[in-house]
Amino acid sequence: MSKQRLEGKVALITGSASGIGEEAVRLFAENGALIVAADLQDELGHRVVESIGRDTVSYHHCDVRDEKQVEETVNYTLEKYGKLDVLFSNAGIIGPLSGILEFDMGEFDNTMATNVRGVAATIKHAARAMVDRNIRGSIICTTSVASSLGGTGPHAYTISKHALVGLVRTACSELGAYGIRVNCVSPFGVATPLACTAYNLRPDEVEANSCSIANLKGIVLKARHIADAALFLASDESAYISGHNLAVDGGFTVVNHSFST
Ligand SMILES: NC(=O)c1ccc[n+]([C@@H]2O[C@H](COP(=O)([O-])OP(=O)(O)OC[C@H]3O[C@@H](n4cnc5c(N)ncnc54)[C@H](O)[C@@H]3O)[C@@H](O)[C@H]2O)c1
Repeated sequence: MSKQRLEGKVALITGSASGIGEEAVRLFAENGALIVAADLQDELGHRVVESIGRDTVSYHHCDVRDEKQVEETVNYTLEKYGKLDVLFSNAGIIGPLSGILEFDMGEFDNTMATNVRGVAATIKHAARAMVDRNIRGSIICTTSVASSLGGTGPHAYTISKHALVGLVRTACSELGAYGIRVNCVSPFGVATPLACTAYNLRPDEVEANSCSIANLKGIVLKARHIADAALFLASDESAYISGHNLAVDGGFTVVNHSFST
């Protein structure tokens, strides 16, 4: 049995029906957390919960673009488990792959509504719940290598993930006074439905593409590696880490790939 690194903690995870969020639900549950798994794909979300067990995880519908639903989801967590220690605000979309010359402003708004406004709403309501109950909680958001480099994703996505780093830093600056930590994890390419659908590729093709441009060789990045980083930031092992954008990218964003020595 794995060490219970989240024993006694209550976690809310958005974007939990699929990919990185689903993996985090499983890993957090293995580590002793009680979890509310939130998403808008209800059937998939319920399936994740059934496969783990209702005694540990419950599913709640939440479209993060709708602040009311976010508030209701936080309230549901408080009613169900009495507190909230960890928010993993992970829900996100990649949006359209169109060029800047054909930029669709409506699609841009939708990407920002999910990836930035939606995350801001989750931070607002989760942090209120933590502050009201004197909980020195941990908030983790999912950014991307596109949060620190241009040219690694669609334009709206890149803008949204850069903005998300700003959101994490500014929330960190206020919530530190309450002992609440705010961080993000920044993944390189993982073969989740998000990546497969956007590029119309099978998971093995996404992984082959990622491996071919990766800095770190001999390992395939999996959703589990991102969930591991989120678990670290959720747990007391990262007790003094706040405002950090933890790259899980094998060094991709700190290396200039056009030079070889
Ligand atoms: N897969 C990658 O290569 C990669 C790389 C860097 C960052 N990310 C980020 O990781 C996060 C998780 O993505 P993933 O790769 O696991 O993709 P995914 O599509 O498998 O999972 C994303 C989940 O978010 C949910 N979601 C989307 N919009 C939502 C909304 N408005 N409200 C609630 N839930 C919503 C989806 O239903 C889905 O279950 C995203 O923020 C994404 O930007 C992914």
